[in-house]
Amino acid sequence: MLRKIERFMKTMPVIAPFSASENVSRMQSSSTLAAMQAAEALRAAGADVVDFGAGEPDFDTPDNIKFAAQEAMRAGRTKYTSTGGIRALPQSIINFYQTQFGVEYQPNEVMGTSGGKQAIFNAIVTLLNPGDEALIPKPYWVTFPEIVVFAGGKPVFIETEETGFVLTVEQVERAITPRSKLLILNSPSNPSGRVLPTAEFRKIMELAADRGLYVISDECYLRFVYPPAEIFSAATLPAELRARLCIAGSFSKTYAMTGWRVGYSLAPAEWTKAMLKVQGHCTSNPNSIAQYAAIEALTGPQESVATMLAEYTKRRAWLLGELRNIPGIKCGEPEGAFYAFPDVRGCLTGKLKTSAEFAKHLLEEEQTVVTDGAAFGAEGFVRMSYATSMAQLEEGVKRIRRFAERYV
Ligand SMILES: Cc1ncc(COP(=O)(O)O)c(C=O)c1O
Repeated sequence: MLRKIERFMKTMPVIAPFSASENVSRMQSSSTLAAMQAAEALRAAGADVVDFGAGEPDFDTPDNIKFAAQEAMRAGRTKYTSTGGIRALPQSIINFYQTQFGVEYQPNEVMGTSGGKQAIFNAIVTLLNPGDEALIPKPYWVTFPEIVVFAGGKPVFIETEETGFVLTVEQVERAITPRSKLLILNSPSNPSGRVLPTAEFRKIMELAADRGLYVISDECYLRFVYPPAEIFSAATLPAELRARLCIAGSFSKTYAMTGWRVGYSLAPAEWTKAMLKVQGHCTSNPNSIAQYAAIEALTGPQESVATMLAEYTKRRAWLLGELRNIPGIKCGEPEGAFYAFPDVRGCLTGKLKTSAEFAKHLLEEEQTVVTDGAAFGAEGFVRMSYATSMAQLEEGVKRIRRFAERYV
């Protein structure tokens, strides 16, 4: 791992012609952001758009967090900090995992990052050498394969539709090859909302340990789980199953802080040291003011999280009930996050051939935004975020029903 990072630093071109960067030319731009932009363009043209595309809470950042940021600014906390954050940031993350899950992490195993996305980026580029394979269950968050490609690795996708998009240990086992180095898990999942049952999670981690695989567990939606499903962090696994594990966490969703750009990683000390090196040479420390806000988020009152969860619970129940009654649409059970991931193949029997066409026509004909499932590796599905008001949900569902009835 360390040899890899040393080579990464030495070979980074100072200025490369864009066309010369093969890895970057193989990357796709973010389709979820593209959906957001399409909606913005329509809105700017005066259309009454219903937007199910958002990958972020529709709540404002809680006031106590904003006040902490104001106070940090007033006190002049506006300078560089150490790369992984001021000491209190990793410490508040350690304390959170200790009180919430009863696990002990050491300061040299924790670092603050500019969003969970950077934690995942750091973890992948410090690990993969050209040709190394990264196992990515479908449907996947769009950024996973792109970072793997950026690092010169090869994404190897695991099909999970036969098990309702819930990964099983057998599926992982079948996908492993001698070149497999990394497995990326994401529970609750974006886009499917599915939660990996604890027993299966453990079996998968046992298999990974047995085969010497590294694992990234993206736990950005950790706190948004709907009973009877239970919150589970890979941090609670026994030490021998965590020896090659990096957890990526985020403040974005839990505390409605997507714009603040703070996240973190929990990983073995040697891996963390390599990640600090990468981060130190690209973005340095997470925004200093946002660090104070994040500390307040973790250590201050937690009512806002419960309020958001209660609201998502209500919307989720309503939305699933409605979607399951629309002709041509089927919808599985998303136990976490704030997404429904309906199967729209029942509407793709005539003029519409793909989920991309479904999304495009829905936008054009009903000014309603959903994200094409093919972007997440699941053709025939669309992602709908219910991080939007009940009024918008009701209006959007009415439009989708009208649309589906036209095509089914
Ligand atoms: C599955 C998943 N992981 C990570 C992230 C990154 O979040 P952030 O960088 O805002 O912390 C997102 C954001 O949409 C996500 O959906």
